[in-house]
Amino acid sequence: MKFAFSEISLPKRGSLAVAIYADNAFSPTAKDVDKKSDGALTRALETSRFKGKKGDFLEIMAPAGLEVSRVVLFGLGEVEKLGQTDMETLGGSLVKRLNASGARSVTVILDELGADAIKTSEAAAAVAAGAMLGSYRFQKYKTDIDDATEPTLARMTVSCKGSATARKAFADMEALAEGVFLTRDLVSEPANTLYPESFAERCLELSDMGVHVEVLDEAKMQRLGMGALLGVGQGSRRDSRLVVMQWNGATAKKANRKPLAFVGKGVCFDTGGISITPAAGMEEMKWDMGGAGTVTGLMKALAGRKAKVNAVGVIGLVENMPDGNAQRPGDIVTAMSGQTIEILNTDAEGRLVLADALWYTQDRFKPEFMIDLATLTGAIIITLGHENAGLFSNNDELSEQLFEAGKAVGEGVWRLPMSDAYAKQVKSPIADLQNIGTGGRGAGSIVAAEFLQKFVNDVPWAHLDIAGMAWSKADKPTVPKGGTGYGVRLLDKFVRDNYEGK
Ligand code: BES
Ligand code: MN
Ligand code: ZN
Repeated sequence: MKFAFSEISLPKRGSLAVAIYADNAFSPTAKDVDKKSDGALTRALETSRFKGKKGDFLEIMAPAGLEVSRVVLFGLGEVEKLGQTDMETLGGSLVKRLNASGARSVTVILDELGADAIKTSEAAAAVAAGAMLGSYRFQKYKTDIDDATEPTLARMTVSCKGSATARKAFADMEALAEGVFLTRDLVSEPANTLYPESFAERCLELSDMGVHVEVLDEAKMQRLGMGALLGVGQGSRRDSRLVVMQWNGATAKKANRKPLAFVGKGVCFDTGGISITPAAGMEEMKWDMGGAGTVTGLMKALAGRKAKVNAVGVIGLVENMPDGNAQRPGDIVTAMSGQTIEILNTDAEGRLVLADALWYTQDRFKPEFMIDLATLTGAIIITLGHENAGLFSNNDELSEQLFEAGKAVGEGVWRLPMSDAYAKQVKSPIADLQNIGTGGRGAGSIVAAEFLQKFVNDVPWAHLDIAGMAWSKADKPTVPKGGTGYGVRLLDKFVRDNYEGK
């Protein structure tokens, strides 16, 4: 789909989308169109339940007196209350509607909104961004595409006053969306094609954008002492990898500051290992690399919009398989930190991968903070469902910043407690640590976070358990079914608001 921005004027072809406000109050453009069509909008509203609420839509086909093929009315509700995510949702919903009815192009007209939270030009950019995010599809394995159900919409023009500003704002959002799309692509890709080595190759493609990418192989990780990560991968025919991605975009003045660090769990497939999981739903574990996918997409987004920060992304890539060389329950491994870990359940593998990835990151980069993302526990889905990621942290300020960023972009996080009482649960009687808690199924997500904290060495740290967020079974306006790309927008916003321009 192509996007363009223009000053307000009625189009001569294609579809036209105009706003109706709360209680069917006409926007200036709606008034104009109603007049030109001899009251077609007024008549249509009289015979419909459209009330001008946010999310209301009404299509009027081929109205006399106008040159366009259809007019779509969209409700905006109380305009002063509109924000970024409302406009994105509008963009995504419009695309779905227009594709369903076969439109090829649309001009969306936004008159001055006077909203408190967003300028009209930003709102215009957000409509386009939402449309872009919502029109993503993962189609590469479909060979029997049915033209009758293919999307038709190829072009969206958003018209507003100050369209040059909108165009500029959209350029950044486009870069962000490209990052989200990379995450979605990685998350949706099956494990026979996306395994540690091929994932690392996808990361290397970011070199073209100025990201410095290093790939550590097993021999190198062995030398570094990454026994926790390597133990998880040892039952797989695929070799493990650790990828380090650096984006150095800070201005000269800030170039010497500590980098921001993002760490991702990249279990390309999680069978559970010898503690194998039941067959039903196991295919979902192709997206157990969602944390690594988000970190990779974030690096692409930061590079794409030339973010003025130094950021490092570290992802631990493994495949958790049961074979003759697989790690056994009861095995004891030594992590890079020097701590020994008794493996009581080979299915609690993500924390083992992160243990070495986190330790390596703080040891090498001495970062400002570390934020890790992981599809870490089923328990977080029981706790928070698919509405928020679990947030665990040793730092209140970092937590607050993440919460605010999540609220702003509609990618929520909710903080859960941590304390010594939980931490005790991962002490082993015969090793330093054990990889599952003593408390059975209770507080599974918290206990997992406590395990991770043993490897952060007091660096400000936050852990996002995204097991409920990386994949969606439902189609939403800006998030189609499949890999969601959750976290890219959240972290981009978090970086933008707290670490750029300061
Ligand atoms: N990858 C899973 C967690 C998961 C479950 C992610 C469902 C997404 C959807 C993780 O490796 C795992 O197996 N966790 C176990 C931990 C348990 C053995 C302590 C879990 O959550 O049951
Ligand atoms: Mn597992
Ligand atoms: Zn896992």
